[in-house]
Amino acid sequence: MEQKLKELQSQALEKIAAAANLKELNDVRVAYLGKKGPVTEVLKGMGKLSAEERPKMGALVNVVRETISKSIEEKQELLEAAAIEQQLAQESIDVTLPGRPVKQGSHHPLTRVAEEIEDLFIGMGYTVAEGPEVEQDFYNFEALNLPKDHPARDMQDTFYITPELLMRTHTSPVQVRTMQKHEGRGPVKIICPGKVYRRDSDDATHSHQFAQIEGLVVGENIRMSDLKGTLDVFAKKMFGEDREIRLRPSFFPFTEPSVEVDVSCMCGGKGCSICKGTGWIEVLGAGMVHPNVLEMAGFDSNKYTGFAFGMGQERIAMLKYGIDDIRHFYTNDLRFLKQFSVHE
Ligand code: DAH
Repeated sequence: MEQKLKELQSQALEKIAAAANLKELNDVRVAYLGKKGPVTEVLKGMGKLSAEERPKMGALVNVVRETISKSIEEKQELLEAAAIEQQLAQESIDVTLPGRPVKQGSHHPLTRVAEEIEDLFIGMGYTVAEGPEVEQDFYNFEALNLPKDHPARDMQDTFYITPELLMRTHTSPVQVRTMQKHEGRGPVKIICPGKVYRRDSDDATHSHQFAQIEGLVVGENIRMSDLKGTLDVFAKKMFGEDREIRLRPSFFPFTEPSVEVDVSCMCGGKGCSICKGTGWIEVLGAGMVHPNVLEMAGFDSNKYTGFAFGMGQERIAMLKYGIDDIRHFYTNDLRFLKQFSVHE
């Protein structure tokens, strides 16, 4: 029996040494120390032993059992440590690997231009105002001194939704909405960016949908010279300090007098293909707010005067960046858009 126990012990120790992982080690534990294992079997056979041999054998069984379980414990610690090492090795990060570049988008050129213009006017004390793109006939036309049968409505081909509801043809209705909110009290100083719609056939210079920026100042003693000074600052900041502006008489129903505003061309007046040899480029429409418009929006036209201007964002962007076709803004060719990325 003693012999058998010693053999069991050395067999078990061999298997423990050979166990390659925690599962194999546990199998060894179950096989040798479990209820059905050989050590328990030996214990069960103790009843047959003589009274002298029994304590001796009992002690030996205990020694064998402890030797095996201690060896299992030691091996378990080793295997656990190895498992942690392995996990750490697997999870380790090579901090010297170069990172994968994160592709960053960029602002659309129109967004850039609009923000630049907004910032410029915010710097002069204006606030940004917005209005709906689906607009009432009243705000888009009537309150801007364009009654239902006014021929000047033909200047803007309109998408009507119902006879009273339309896609706004310009950002000028935001003027009226803002003035109404002021309930006849000045000053009003706003800049209004937004999308507008016209029943135009798309080509290199026309689009059924484009973007405008509108400006409006209403207060006491606002004069044409204020408009001229403001637009001069705008032209210099937008296109360069050497640029000048020129006002030409024009007609808009909502302003009186009305002007068309040109900026001197970058050719310096020599004449080139952009200014078609004239030295000047038309950039916006403007004028002194018509007394009818002030009155219809609730302002006393004897006390208040104002100036307004409106321009196409695409036109400004085309002039600023030398873009020759308005369709580039909405066809989303990445080769075009990437040129305006500030990241590369
Ligand atoms: N609303 C005009 C247009 O779309 C542009 C314009 C001209 C706006 C003169 C104004 C202005 O505020 O005073 O053609």
